[in-house]
Amino acid sequence: MEYRILGKTDLRVSEIGFGAWGIGGSEWQNGNDEEALKALHLAFKQGINFYDTALAYGDGHSEKLIGQLANDIGRYNVIIATKIPPKNLKWPAPCGIPVNDVFPKDHIRDSVHKSLKNLKIDTIDLIQLHVWQDEWLEHTEWQEALLTLKREGKVRFIGVSINDHDPNSALLLAQNHIADTVQCIYNIFDPTADDALLDLCKANQIGVIARVPFDEGALTGTLNAQTTFPEGDFRNLYFGDNRLTMVEQKVNELKKCLGEEAKSLPELAIRFCLSNSAISTVIAGMRKAKHVEANTSYADGKKLSPKLLEKLDAFRWNKNFYASLHTD
Ligand SMILES: NC(=O)c1ccc[n+]([C@@H]2O[C@H](COP(=O)([O-])OP(=O)(O)OC[C@H]3O[C@@H](n4cnc5c(N)ncnc54)[C@H](OP(=O)(O)O)[C@@H]3O)[C@@H](O)[C@H]2O)c1
Repeated sequence: MEYRILGKTDLRVSEIGFGAWGIGGSEWQNGNDEEALKALHLAFKQGINFYDTALAYGDGHSEKLIGQLANDIGRYNVIIATKIPPKNLKWPAPCGIPVNDVFPKDHIRDSVHKSLKNLKIDTIDLIQLHVWQDEWLEHTEWQEALLTLKREGKVRFIGVSINDHDPNSALLLAQNHIADTVQCIYNIFDPTADDALLDLCKANQIGVIARVPFDEGALTGTLNAQTTFPEGDFRNLYFGDNRLTMVEQKVNELKKCLGEEAKSLPELAIRFCLSNSAISTVIAGMRKAKHVEANTSYADGKKLSPKLLEKLDAFRWNKNFYASLHTD
């Protein structure tokens, strides 16, 4: 496992981080805690020290599993990042909504206290706002609430998880001092964070957590037009209508890029993210030990060639499948 420094935090984070949405269970069906704990323990053994969860993942269940790992292996062996949900429970945050409807001071404090309890720890390494709009920078109450929690030792660093497919909604944030990190979508289909955000983060020493490296599974090559998901699983909507057929067509083309540099699609997807030096860690969603084993093996310091990266640029896909999850 290779490690990178997370912006100005000085934290040394594993290039592959553990994305813990799936193990929360409610939106991702057909997993189980026993399998999740096996995956978490193997992740630690393979060198993963960065774990990304959220209060909203399974209503605290994902945090509880991460807390169990921390308890089993020793709290200070892991860096734990979690997130404060928007009070109005609207993902993504619409433009023009007052920040006090989303992150009022009391909600920030209550959420952090709930997360600490779920995780059974005294300090959260990285607390992230789970949605964002740059216009909120003009308001100070939420910033003071987070800085107070930092002074009290409840959190160490502050981050923001940027709205899906909208990296430009955080360009001002990336030039401001409040956030130590940002979290954004960065994958072969959606590399738009690299158009402007990533350069600003690099210039201002803001750590970048790349999320959804497999586009929710589309970039693993395991999905095709016949794939079905269990009832209640969010992927029924994400990959609804004819989207699995579209994914299959794109992925069949993408397979032509496999070869010496990346022998499988998961390898190509992870190596694509890690080839960008602005990225601090890639949080891959992994509920199974075999996926942990595969994904950690790609963090060996080898980058894709400029020629292959140029080829991958043709796979940009301007879509927003998440929009179908939000009816507002
Ligand atoms: N708004 C936000 O802040 C936000 C939104 C989304 C995600 N996130 C964070 O980002 C993390 C990653 O995103 P994600 O989990 O949604 O999606 P993802 O990482 O793009 O994809 C996860 C899917 O890929 C599969 N997979 C992983 N490794 C594989 C391998 N080597 N071979 C084949 N399949 C493999 C997983 O299967 P199994 O589950 O069966 O292992 C799962 O179905 C989340 O867990 C969460 O921490 C944050």
